[in-house]
Amino acid sequence: MSIEPMHEESVDDSGAEASGSLAATDLHHVYGRGTSEEHHALGGITFSMNKGEFVAIVGPSGCGKTTLLRCLSGLMAPTSGSVMLEGVPVESVPKDLTLVFQDYRRSLYPWLRVDANVEFPLKNSGIGKAERTERVRQALEDVGLSGHASKYPGQLSGGMQQRVSIARALAYRPHLLLMDEPFASVDAQTRASLEDVLLEVWARRRKTVLFVTHDIDESVYLADRVVVLSNAPSHVMAEIVVDIPRPRDQIETKATPEFVELRAEVARLIRDAGTGAGKPAGDS
Ligand SMILES: Nc1ncnc2c1ncn2[C@@H]1O[C@H](COP(=O)(O)OP(=O)(O)OP(=O)(O)O)[C@@H](O)[C@H]1O
Ligand SMILES: [Mg+2]
Repeated sequence: MSIEPMHEESVDDSGAEASGSLAATDLHHVYGRGTSEEHHALGGITFSMNKGEFVAIVGPSGCGKTTLLRCLSGLMAPTSGSVMLEGVPVESVPKDLTLVFQDYRRSLYPWLRVDANVEFPLKNSGIGKAERTERVRQALEDVGLSGHASKYPGQLSGGMQQRVSIARALAYRPHLLLMDEPFASVDAQTRASLEDVLLEVWARRRKTVLFVTHDIDESVYLADRVVVLSNAPSHVMAEIVVDIPRPRDQIETKATPEFVELRAEVARLIRDAGTGAGKPAGDS
């Protein structure tokens, strides 16, 4: 998992009102336009998220999920369409937004201790040493790693390293977290515990989270709403509201009829996306 927090200042969000409403309108992205390699990845994606909401995005492999996150975060300009954050067009990575990628092994510096890894992106941010130290302490506490601050990444398990990566994103104190399959490379039990760490932090710190995953159970377990994308050129096939009460529990929640029905609904949609049955009329 790698992280790209990249703004000079951020907001202390302790107790702050949740913020981070994001809206995408008719986003298209074409790679290699005009070449023999031309690929129409995003085919007109429109959706929005409310402040404080936890939205999951699922869709077939290669449908354009990472492309979408890159466009939403301002890392890449879409070919057409607009992205607005709090009513302001996103043209570069906005302050208050952090993007978390999957490959955590490449994001942590093996020669830096855990606390220094978490502090690293804050170093040139204009935030004073005392404030940085407090943020690092708080972020490590949030992910349950308070006792491991002076270890090196190589002394931690994969799941703990993922927690360090999450702590690093949290220390930046963004209101909006965009996460691209952040738990894809750990075992099922570690994944479940990371999901719960994220939910706890989300509830306590009032973040807005957009979470891309391949895992249907994960999407329903985590989210308030699951956005299902079609095959490329991708569009939003469906938005499923997950009205399962919180706090959720890995065993109890997943055994409820509501959960079982919702996961089946998302699975059917993804299967239809794979067969083309979810394409809008007129699409080839
Ligand atoms: N830089 C690029 N240049 C050309 N094509 C690209 C580029 N990046 C992605 N693509 C193509 O765009 C499509 C969408 O890629 P993207 O990585 O967004 O999909 P994804 O849904 O995130 O896939 P996965 O589920 O495997 O993570 C793929 O067919 C991919 O090959
Ligand atoms: Mg991807």
